Amino acid sequence: MTTAVGEAPGKILLVGEHAVVYGHPAIAIPLRGIRARAEVAFHRDSAIRMTAPDLGEFDVSMEQASPRLSPLLGLAESVRRYFGEESQGLRIHLESTIPIGRGMGSGAAAAIATVRGVCAALGRRLDAMQVAELAMESEKVFHGNPSGVDTAVVARNEPIYFVKRKPIRGIEVKRSEFRFVIADTGIESPTADVVEDVRIARDADRARYDSFFWELGSMASVAREMIRTGSPEELGLCMNHAHAVLQNIGVSCAELDHLVAAAVEHGALGAKLSGAGRGGAVIALVGAKADPEALDSALRLAGAQSVFTTVLNGAPAP
Ligand code: MEV
Repeated sequence: MTTAVGEAPGKILLVGEHAVVYGHPAIAIPLRGIRARAEVAFHRDSAIRMTAPDLGEFDVSMEQASPRLSPLLGLAESVRRYFGEESQGLRIHLESTIPIGRGMGSGAAAAIATVRGVCAALGRRLDAMQVAELAMESEKVFHGNPSGVDTAVVARNEPIYFVKRKPIRGIEVKRSEFRFVIADTGIESPTADVVEDVRIARDADRARYDSFFWELGSMASVAREMIRTGSPEELGLCMNHAHAVLQNIGVSCAELDHLVAAAVEHGALGAKLSGAGRGGAVIALVGAKADPEALDSALRLAGAQSVFTTVLNGAPAP
């Protein structure tokens, strides 16, 4: 029996969420410490069945799967069809350490791990862009109107400067290292719902919302320059300002605001919500003089369910 493995990391948005849906730039960073993993085995029948213990689903077909899992079964089917292998039965075991619905790319990573696992089982190769394009199929079911930033950063496994339907660019990190702390509120917030609420709010007041998006997109461009030139203090200010704009858009909540305030109070150079908002996570930039352990404790005291760090230093993906 052939068993193959596909893996994909989590992700976090540094700046540009929501604006990126409307064609403005965003910066996204992979979270390599958390990941989704799909083990794919051939089966003698022609069915595709999936097991996802994290979702409490075992050996289910597309018809039996929950709305969360069925897009992934559909995706596996598409990959099989893409290679003309429709009759090859597959059993997929999917596990993930990425918290669900917290803006850390759980859906994109599950989709990309599935695509990679099926490709590996079939002995085929796709490049990162082809993998991301296929994975968008299930993201559209999960997220309604995704910008594509999640699948792009997860597939590439490196920091990106992303503009919808434009060639993806990497981020140059020349002089310094940027250390971020990510604090999870523990509140699950479906991206599709928040993106839809923002669309409704924008329809009601287009000029105001478009100016918010324009501001966030400009901040993504400025942040890219601050990363390139090694200016953490300025990047921190930019993050604080992005959080204020996201509050105005209406996607923050008391728990996120509380974590942002705690981070800044305990030595972060800047902090903001990350992802769709109304729950999910906060990203904070740790200053050179800040004590990461004290910041970690302060965030937990302020309500974070889990806290971890990631570094942006331009090093190639492992
Ligand atoms: C993506 O993690 C967050 C949003 O910008 C939605 C999207 O880009 O598809 C809110």
